[in-house]
Amino acid sequence: MKIETNAAGHLTIGGCDALTLAQQFGTPAYVYDVGQIRAQFRSFAKVFEAHGAKYAVSYASKAFATVAMYQVAAQENAHVDVVSGGELYTAQAAQFPMAHVSFHGNNKSKAELAQALEAHVGTIIVDNFHELDLLEGLLKLQEGRVQNILLRVTPGISAHTHAYDQTGQTDSKFGFDVDSGQAKAAATRALANPQLHLLGIHAHIGSQIFEVKGFVAAAQRLLAILTDWHDSLAFTPTVLNLGGGFGIAYTNADDPLPAEAFVAAILDTIAAADLPFDTPAIWIEPGRSIVGPAGYQLYTVGSRKDVPGLAPFVAVDGGMGDNIRPALYQADYEAVAAADPHAASTETVRLVGKYCESGDILIDQAKLPHLEAGAVVAVLATGAYGYSMASNYNRNPRPAVVFAENGQAKLVVRRESYADLTRNDLSYL
Ligand code: LLP
Repeated sequence: MKIETNAAGHLTIGGCDALTLAQQFGTPAYVYDVGQIRAQFRSFAKVFEAHGAKYAVSYASKAFATVAMYQVAAQENAHVDVVSGGELYTAQAAQFPMAHVSFHGNNKSKAELAQALEAHVGTIIVDNFHELDLLEGLLKLQEGRVQNILLRVTPGISAHTHAYDQTGQTDSKFGFDVDSGQAKAAATRALANPQLHLLGIHAHIGSQIFEVKGFVAAAQRLLAILTDWHDSLAFTPTVLNLGGGFGIAYTNADDPLPAEAFVAAILDTIAAADLPFDTPAIWIEPGRSIVGPAGYQLYTVGSRKDVPGLAPFVAVDGGMGDNIRPALYQADYEAVAAADPHAASTETVRLVGKYCESGDILIDQAKLPHLEAGAVVAVLATGAYGYSMASNYNRNPRPAVVFAENGQAKLVVRRESYADLTRNDLSYL
């Protein structure tokens, strides 16, 4: 957990004083240390380069998708993956190079596929036969147009993580099933269509994974599939996409490998394989590991409820609307006092939000110094799937997003206003 302080002893994020940020931009706010995001992109690139591998680091933008984030990904020469017309639209608004976009999803609509073709998205990751039908139909209308695709397969590997975060096991809604022959049938069909340029295959085994063995097993399984397709379909793959899922520390109890270690294990596995084709480019799709540790949520403490014999409730001005992960996945986080992040904890409290729901608990057992109303707390490692899963529950406006780097802070998403909340409401009178 990265905690930096300034001479005043206050928490700093990207070189900016967190208390000043809270004053300047208000709370609740999402603040990103952009230098940390860049450093993570660069350490992924470094490990690929050290292995002499052809590669792409495709940022899984579902973790945090805003114009500013697509701009940073572009500056870092990363690719991105998008999973909806809305993410694609945001990447377009950021003028992200479309050739470096992969379009994912298990139920892309015809309109979304048409949008992707219109935008000249680099790669469409085809998930199922319905999508193959739609894509072939759309391409037929554009003579001579060829689209790069990957086929997403379900490799039959279940990662050890929360059930909602598992995607690679056989009983998953994502991808072509391998054992029943569906993946190979899809490849046969793609190879027969001159408007589809099949680059290779994709699999994603899950998210917040702490062990390399699932990735090693997935790499081996995918290489076996590609070898079979090479031998029986005369297919030469140029891309092997192993998805994302590298786990991060949310609390000091978590001790994940550095994300690059997963990549090194994958690359070593591939290097050790005896392949009948040249090693394809290896693509990965990290989301959480790029933005998670770099994100901090700032809240202001308000009310407090003490009941003899029970842990006190300390309420902040946000909650499950801006971070649904504790309620949805029982996710753990750690919080610090922005004024003194290293202050010894004097009590264990339930850090709760302001939403009208008992499950609106951000941290069940937060160890904090005694905080008075008005104190600013920072919840750490909230950069992934926080803002991107935020809602307007209870008609609370979504918080602002601030990027901090080298001591400069910039608002990159305005705080929603009440007027934003009723923008699409229509009168029934
Ligand atoms: N690629 C594919 C195809 C994915 O489905 C995902 C995540 C990723 C890459 C990125 O995985 P990451 O590196 O971020 O673990 N909302 C949940 C996480 C859902 C992940 C869905 N897919 C959470 O907050 O834990």
